[in-house]
Amino acid sequence: MSDAFALADHLAKHGQSHLLAGLDQLDPAARTAYLARLHDIDWAELHHHLSTHTAGEVASSRVVAPEERSRRAAEFAALGEAEYRAGKVGVLMVAGGQGTRLGSSAPKGCFTLSPLGHKSIYQLQAEKVLALSRRVGRAVPFLVMTSPMTDAETREFFAANAWFGLAEGQVRFFSQGTVPSLDQQGRALLAGNGRLLENPDGHGGCFTALVKSGNLARLRAEGVTQIVYIQVDNILVPVDDPLLVGLAAAEGTDVITKVLEKAHPDEKVGHLVKIGSRDHIIEYTELTPEQTRQKNALGELVYRWGSPAMHCWSVAFLARLADAGYKIPLHRSSKPLKAWTPAGGIAEVKGWKNERFIFDLIPEAKVSVGLAIDRDGEFAPVKNKDGADSPATANRLASDLYASWLRAAGVEVALPANAHIEISPRYAATQAQFLARWDGRTRRVAGDFFLEEDR
Ligand code: UTP
Repeated sequence: MSDAFALADHLAKHGQSHLLAGLDQLDPAARTAYLARLHDIDWAELHHHLSTHTAGEVASSRVVAPEERSRRAAEFAALGEAEYRAGKVGVLMVAGGQGTRLGSSAPKGCFTLSPLGHKSIYQLQAEKVLALSRRVGRAVPFLVMTSPMTDAETREFFAANAWFGLAEGQVRFFSQGTVPSLDQQGRALLAGNGRLLENPDGHGGCFTALVKSGNLARLRAEGVTQIVYIQVDNILVPVDDPLLVGLAAAEGTDVITKVLEKAHPDEKVGHLVKIGSRDHIIEYTELTPEQTRQKNALGELVYRWGSPAMHCWSVAFLARLADAGYKIPLHRSSKPLKAWTPAGGIAEVKGWKNERFIFDLIPEAKVSVGLAIDRDGEFAPVKNKDGADSPATANRLASDLYASWLRAAGVEVALPANAHIEISPRYAATQAQFLARWDGRTRRVAGDFFLEEDR
């Protein structure tokens, strides 16, 4: 659009003319910035939010279930180990969300979580990348996606903590985009005069942001072929996972989705299933109780595998989509929003928040495989302040996992209900590392027990 008239025309076509109402009250700099933002937004896509209904026959996806996983563990692990050592693996952590449920205004990663080491979530995640880098003898690229709301604070936090021991330049920050929030009639809301009300564009924003920031091209140029994708708020998610990376190499996958066998058919998760010829994640909210009980020819539940949002993405796959100009579609959800109007100032209104979901990339993949994981070993989410999926439950799950490592080393663990075990990722980030390093310093743990690397 070359001028203001064309923009006005374009906004009118999309029912957004009201956005130009207060223009003459803005100073020249604010006006220029506002018009540039209005010009950049893809107004058409805001009308085409994704319908989640997908046509086609639903069947089971290819999943490496526990039996195959154990049988082929050594084969996959050897392949994956070679990939790590050859510098073909990067780690991408999405950390751009607003963490509203946790109730802290700071980025979720800055939250002090661990019970004995008093480490932040960022420190726990970064130290896993540090442990991995030391083990494989190279600075594994650690990409951290922030949002415009968390970017500065996240960078300052890492800098103030000397990047948690990671090498200079190893942590690559990039920010996701934002999308306008809409009222119930689909009109963009304002946060003030000359300021749209926008929210971060969801974890799926990492695809466009990886491309736009130049990070995908940089990974390609460096010869990185696989990205281990993690979310900041799962404190047990492994980044040192040769079995995962080896499976990707063995089967030439575009994407691997880690999956958990559902505890019961009605568990509230997104499911990995095949629809037609492609894999999809179908949310429990989209299924009837009959569908969740549907069985395949082998008598297994079709909606058997839940996704805890851990993936391994092929760089070539992402690059192919980027080259084709692919954009992850928007989903909208109804939310109470604080919006500004010239007449009423800031007030709460019911409207639509728009977001992109990373798993919408899965149907684009020709080769998609699920990898079953152990429920207790890799998933400890921090979502809420209290109750389920809170710091308390995540710390309990972590402590239980570390207790199992100690038991595997022959240590007797008799922990009182309120005591914790914490093993620093710098000491050991996986059970295998722990067993290799454990010096038998105690034969019994009966209270708080913190294992940190001697510095
Ligand atoms: P959640 O869906 O739990 O959202 O994010 P959230 O913003 O962290 O928390 P609530 O819903 O406001 O309480 C799952 C993961 O996706 C990332 C989060 O940082 C978290 O790792 N995420 C989410 C983004 O990176 N960007 C987003 O826009 C949304």
